[in-house]
Amino acid sequence: MITSVKEILGKAKEGGYAVGAFNTTNLETTRAIVEAAKELKSPVIIQVTEKTMEYAGGRMIFNIIKNDVEFYAPEIPVGIHIDHGGNFEIIERAVEIGWTSVMYDGSRKSYVDNVAMTKRVVDYCHEKGVDVQGELGNVPYLSEHKMGAVDWDKYMTDPEQACDFVEKTGIDTLAVAIGNAHGFFIEREIPDWDRLEKIRSMINVPIVLHGASDWEDGKAEKAIAMGVNCFNVDTNTRLAFVNSLSATFTAQDDPGFDVRRILGKAREAVKESVKHKIKLFGSNGKA
Ligand code: G3H
Ligand code: 13P
Ligand code: ZN
Repeated sequence: MITSVKEILGKAKEGGYAVGAFNTTNLETTRAIVEAAKELKSPVIIQVTEKTMEYAGGRMIFNIIKNDVEFYAPEIPVGIHIDHGGNFEIIERAVEIGWTSVMYDGSRKSYVDNVAMTKRVVDYCHEKGVDVQGELGNVPYLSEHKMGAVDWDKYMTDPEQACDFVEKTGIDTLAVAIGNAHGFFIEREIPDWDRLEKIRSMINVPIVLHGASDWEDGKAEKAIAMGVNCFNVDTNTRLAFVNSLSATFTAQDDPGFDVRRILGKAREAVKESVKHKIKLFGSNGKA
């Protein structure tokens, strides 16, 4: 059942667990996420970037997700979200299509401009019953850096500013930067846990952590214990898909040309990777 992201994450905050927000680009990935959530009885968020809207068609990918959820997992709460919305026009288009949650990413703008633009998006979206995620501080991308040293201080969310940001914009959820990064990146060796604790004590809305593909080995669990309620995962899912294709085409036996068999294997691999993350985030059994 398509459910508001605010409601899904509100319950996660009350229950002390986190929900995965998984990026999709196509039918196979979408079905894998829906099946993983169904098998584990877990709420989930399925999200799409502007690039995917261009690739698949915004209305088409929206309807693939919606139909998949309504047909295959009507009992599972699923949020549909636009990830990293970069401008007002994209947000308007997404809302017009039917998305019920959007992120406006003003994290590369000055603080004043980020507040002003995010508030404009919130005013527009709330009037239409659509939830909004904002970002403060910013979460670097692998592609922005050679794998050298990163001046993490430049990226971090300032806790006092976070409080001001939430109050001034009226956002429903906040994406924070505490040493996390997009892609399989050399992240800050130890996340800035003190900063996370301070942010959590100063704001009331659910906290989202982007770049969670490589948050393993106790990091995700610790972040949840400290108040993170949503993790964005993309790279992990894409790699599961692509690695499966690669294995199929380098295997001894001829894979043939039945694309359903080839893509079906990739779908299974994505499903397993999503199930692993759902268990890590502790949302299994919460649907
Ligand atoms: O943070 C978002 C994604 O990992 C980037 O995805 O290539 O669809 O823009 P994209
Ligand atoms: P990863 O690709 O590092 O999992 O990050 C995903 C993300 O933050 C999408 O918004
Ligand atoms: Zn992100």
